[in-house]
Amino acid sequence: MPVRIEPWTKDDFPLLEKLFGDPRMTEHLGGPESPGMLADRQRRFEKLAEIGNDRMFKVIEVTTGESVGTVGYRELTWRGEEIYEIGWSTLPAFQGRGIAGNATALAIALARQDGRHRHMHAFPSIDNAPSNAICRKLGFTLIEECEFEYPKGSFMQCNDWRLELY
Ligand SMILES: CC(C)(COP(=O)(O)OP(=O)(O)OC[C@H]1O[C@@H](n2cnc3c(N)ncnc32)[C@H](O)[C@@H]1OP(=O)(O)O)[C@@H](O)C(=O)NCCC(=O)NCCS
Repeated sequence: MPVRIEPWTKDDFPLLEKLFGDPRMTEHLGGPESPGMLADRQRRFEKLAEIGNDRMFKVIEVTTGESVGTVGYRELTWRGEEIYEIGWSTLPAFQGRGIAGNATALAIALARQDGRHRHMHAFPSIDNAPSNAICRKLGFTLIEECEFEYPKGSFMQCNDWRLELY
């Protein structure tokens, strides 16, 4: 399914609610967020591009113009190295059509262009079969199983996947 990605805007709160406020969507991400947490997240996403190198995009289905998911990356210190960590999501009605994979490939291309970090990592839960499949398909290398803190204060058993950006 062809998609494009665009920076997050003030009009994208309904999409954020459908993703981060939904128990199914947040099963591997620490559970649904409260209205206050969603509002904070919206403010953070809107400002990201102005204040640093982290990026959050909405994923748009090209044929319909509909917003169907997110992809984003942020800077993180991991095992002593400055890296990008990337994550993605697709609304349930649109899953299984290659949307997250295609959107993630576009976001990786942008991170490559900025040339800031050698490595991009993804930390899907070991039980998140589609996300682990996406990492494999996009050429990430499986480094190890590890404990990863997401959201803050909650630890998940994850796979550490790494991609060379340059
Ligand atoms: C993970 C998620 C983004 C996948 O979205 P999607 O748009 O359906 O993903 P895609 O269609 O691009 O790719 C899914 C891949 O997983 C594969 N897959 C799906 N279910 C699978 C399973 N049970 N076992 C193995 N592979 C599976 C698909 O075959 C596909 O690979 P392919 O393109 O080689 O056929 C979506 O399920 C989601 O939003 N989940 C909730 C949020 C989340 O967990 N985000 C991950 C944070 S790292």
